[in-house]
Parts: sequence; structure tokens; C-alpha cells
Amino acid sequence: MDMPSARQAIASNKDAWDQSAHLHTTTDTWNALRNSVSDPGFSCLDPTLTGLLQDIGVAGKDVVQLCCNNGRETLSLFGLGARTAVGVDQSQGFLQQARELAALSPHEAQFIESDIHQLPQALQARFDIALVTIGVLGWMPDVALFMHHVASTLKPGGTLVMYETHPFL
Ligand SMILES: C[S@@+](CC[C@H](N)C(=O)[O-])C[C@H]1O[C@@H](n2cnc3c(N)ncnc32)[C@H](O)[C@@H]1O
Repeated sequence: MDMPSARQAIASNKDAWDQSAHLHTTTDTWNALRNSVSDPGFSCLDPTLTGLLQDIGVAGKDVVQLCCNNGRETLSLFGLGARTAVGVDQSQGFLQQARELAALSPHEAQFIESDIHQLPQALQARFDIALVTIGVLGWMPDVALFMHHVASTLKPGGTLVMYETHPFL
């Protein structure tokens, strides 16, 4: 990416998420999440996304969630039978929470700190399914470029699952 303003926007966005992260751990929602994530069948996915993922078939698949925030959705993928689940986010603050939840979960998720535009080589062409959920597209300076990086994580013939609102919202 050679647009300084885009790089600046990405860095500012990371700072904002990091600065707000601790606020989320003082909520009832966080405490409820901590209590429920130890259930092997834990899922916070709503019926629409659950149905979509069931139709596609997550069981036995390697799945990556791009911009996973606190990892609650990444960990939910095991409830649908994912073989492996990897979450990627650039916010260190939220990834700390993801690792805290993962430590309470009986499943072995991996969480990687990275800007989506600088994904490590180890994530290239590795997954059957790439998942992007609500609240991601609106942060991307260039949606086509974002999609290029998302696609780079998929094995040939892999599936992108996007469950988003319109970025203008
Ligand atoms: C609204 S949250 C996603 C929430 C998720 N759908 C859920 O319900 O748990 C958006 C996430 O995108 C991440 N993000 C934004 N820009 C990013 C980038 N360039 N690279 C990696 N993560 C990014 C933020 O750090 C934030 O955690």
C-alpha cells in the first residue's frame, strides 16, 4: 500500500481499538462470555450466520477469521466442528482478551496480531474458509485491497464467508 493517508488511518484505528479495549472487560457481557466459553459447544454466532456456516460445512475445516476482535466468534467455530480456527486482528488489547478466552476454552484456537494488509507468510493459502463478520469493512481504506488480502489466506477453491452490514452504516 503506497497511500500515506491509508497507512495513517490504519495506525490510528489500531490505537483507537487498543485504547478502548479495557472498557470491554468491565461489562456484564465480558463476564458472561468468560463463564460460557468453557463449554465445548460454546457459540455466540446468531442463527443466520450459524445456518450459513452449517450450509457451507465447517466440520473438519481449517478456518480463519480476519479482524476477529476478542475472538469470541473464532472460538465459536469449534462449536460447528472446525478442525482449526485462527483469529487475526491488529489490536493487541483485544487479542489479549481473545487469548484469555482461549485459555478458558477447551479448544486450541490460535490468535495472531497483524494488520490485515501485512499478513504473515504462514497464513497464505492455508484455510478452507475465511470469515469476515460485522464491523470490519467500514475500517478499510480500500475494500478491494482488503479482499485481495482476505483471499490470499484461502486454499485454492476455498470459501469466503462475509456477514456484514453495508460499510456506510
Ligand atoms: C467491530 S470489530 C469486529 C467484531 C466482531 N465481528 C465481533 O462481533 O466480535 C472490528 C475489528 O477489526 C479490527 N481491525 C480494523 N482494521 C484492521 C486491520 N487493518 N487489520 C487487522 N484488524 C483490523 C479492529 O482491531 C477490531 O478488533
